[in-house]
Amino acid sequence: MAITVNKQAKTITLHTKHTSYQMKIGNLDYLLHLYYGPSIPDADMSWQIMQYDRGFSGNPYESRGERTFSLDAQPQEFSTQQQGDFRAASIQVVNSDGSYSFHGKAESYQILKGKYKLDTLPTVFARDTDIVDSLEVTLVDQASQVKVLLLYGVFEEADIITRAVKVVNGGDKPIHLSKIMSLCLDFLNGADFDLVSLPGRYGQERQVERQAMTHHIHNIGSVRGSSSHQQNPFVILCGRETTEDYGRCYGFSLMYSGNFLAEAELDQYDQLRLGMGINPKQFFYQLKPGETFEGPEVVMAFSMEGFTGLSHLYHDFYRTNLCRSKFVSQVERPVLINSWEAAFMDFDDVKLVKIAEAAKDMGVDLLVMDDGWFGKRDDDNSGLGDWVVNENKIKCGLHKLVEQINDLGMKFGIWFEPEMVSEDSDLYRAHPDWAMEIPGRHAVRSRNQIALDLSRKDVQDYLIKSVNAILDDANIYYVKWDINRSLTDIWSNGLPAQKQGEVYHRYILGLYRVMDEIILTHPDILFEGCSGGGGRFDPAMLHYYPQYWVSDNNNPIDRLKLHYGTSFVYPTCTMGAHISDSGRFVPLETKAVVAMCGTFGYELDATHLTKEEQKICREQSRLFRKYYHITFYGDFYRLTNPFAPGNMTAWQHVTKDKRESLVSVVVTNLTCNGPQEYVKVKGLEPFAMYSVNGSQETRSGAGLMNAGIPINREVPEYSAFQFHLVRKD
Ligand code: DGJ
Repeated sequence: MAITVNKQAKTITLHTKHTSYQMKIGNLDYLLHLYYGPSIPDADMSWQIMQYDRGFSGNPYESRGERTFSLDAQPQEFSTQQQGDFRAASIQVVNSDGSYSFHGKAESYQILKGKYKLDTLPTVFARDTDIVDSLEVTLVDQASQVKVLLLYGVFEEADIITRAVKVVNGGDKPIHLSKIMSLCLDFLNGADFDLVSLPGRYGQERQVERQAMTHHIHNIGSVRGSSSHQQNPFVILCGRETTEDYGRCYGFSLMYSGNFLAEAELDQYDQLRLGMGINPKQFFYQLKPGETFEGPEVVMAFSMEGFTGLSHLYHDFYRTNLCRSKFVSQVERPVLINSWEAAFMDFDDVKLVKIAEAAKDMGVDLLVMDDGWFGKRDDDNSGLGDWVVNENKIKCGLHKLVEQINDLGMKFGIWFEPEMVSEDSDLYRAHPDWAMEIPGRHAVRSRNQIALDLSRKDVQDYLIKSVNAILDDANIYYVKWDINRSLTDIWSNGLPAQKQGEVYHRYILGLYRVMDEIILTHPDILFEGCSGGGGRFDPAMLHYYPQYWVSDNNNPIDRLKLHYGTSFVYPTCTMGAHISDSGRFVPLETKAVVAMCGTFGYELDATHLTKEEQKICREQSRLFRKYYHITFYGDFYRLTNPFAPGNMTAWQHVTKDKRESLVSVVVTNLTCNGPQEYVKVKGLEPFAMYSVNGSQETRSGAGLMNAGIPINREVPEYSAFQFHLVRKD
């Protein structure tokens, strides 16, 4: 049973294969949190809770004579508002009388078979073979009749627990929400916890940072209107002793693509609270009587096997329970060539066909026509919004162009940036009110473009119609969906003044509707997400696109860090990675080894390559396909940390049955006359024998893991190695 109830103790326990999570309807019906961690047999962990009369702590009115019960010192499932808990609140309601108060007490709960759903937001799903139960606990504030529904999804085998929240206005007057967290997780003792996050910037997304928890609120979040380059909606809380392979780790991954917040607070008593949800910045959402607001889902995992164990849980789960595209597992991803770094916007149909012809000899399956094919678009100052083919460039028309590419035996892909508009565009001239601009002010330009107001239904409908018209007109196999600026000037001409605090969130809801209507209606098209690289690389986006462009930075040496950081939560099969001209001193083979830690493709002018270079590429494309079953479906191991001092970066993929593995090594620094280095691999069967790169000689898994593979140091700088290990028995 995934969810058990102890009626006497009033505890509810969620069980996955290796973890337990327990809550209790406690004193005065407040919902307390008792435990999350390795599986426990205890049906009642109430003994964890100690109560004292703490100075300056408030006691709820009903406890009057009892001074030891203070919500400021109790672990909670969802922290209340103005009930004496001074830590970060899970909710801020402005009631109809103007009061800021929510005293949520557990009123009821129900256990449901299967996975709960949200009506407005993407969630992970249960496959037919998954054993999943859901729990819904209702908290009610008696005075206002505002209800909070806490949702839990328990994926037993996958060792995953999800959480989400709904707020229902059960009163008879409108209320406002100014903060709503999907998750509140309280640890009774969090003094020895570290917080790991994935900060970055354009071109350097998802670098890894680890900091010790100290006594303040550590905020990780985005207020850029998207999940952003600068932070990722994923954090880890781990023990100070935790390493790559050992120790406790909790992961929290938010299924949301807009402003988010993860707030980790170490309080006066060393209790640690983690809250996660929509960022409260400029969030003020009205709920009329009877209306419901949904907060996005948080996907939680716990591992005792360090960061690797945690990554494996997320990789396995996100590979199977996040995206329904047939390209996840039924159809192999193509090797693509993208026109961007080959030609930027300076191309026509003839040039594209030439690139495709040359790329065919490199083993490429698909040509992607990137930015520049539509409206008036010779540079990035115009054209966005006009999703009609520019026949001055594509003189033969889209149909004919696609036919020519198909005749080469290749597939065709196309680029869109649906969410944006250029001032110099027919769309803007016709509908200036569709752009996000605050009346009487000039909107901030970024790449000289303005965001469309996706909170409006007419804007959503326009995008659905115009993008679908292109997709239905020609034989399109692949779409790259880009967004190249952060949101500012948050304003909708479609909403009254008092509802402008809803625009950030309504934009994201509108975006999900547009994606539903374009992506889910084209199940045969492979979609790749992009946001000036990896600026919106989050699980909600990966619910729609099976792959996402990691970064505009194609330098293979920088990519070592980019792939390393991204891999903490996202599997290799989601990571868009190409070989380009970037990194002039890095051999083509090394670039290919790096791109094989991703979806693999090219982003260069294939007509400029020599015959010899084309041959190398052909071989690399072949190797990508050869190793696909290992890199796309196998377990991933980070063998070295590229942020730490060292002379090489190494990683490894191992098939689930441990019969095959691909070990990849890039030499980043060759010290003069330095020591011999060895790469100790992981995840093999210790007593099985493996061949290395087809050699007759075999080596034991134990030997390879404990002594390591010697790396030849008499090689040029930036050389790379791939060791294909195959079990021989
Ligand atoms: C940003 C993307 O990350 C690039 O790959 C390219 O598609 C450009 N946008 C096009 O404008």
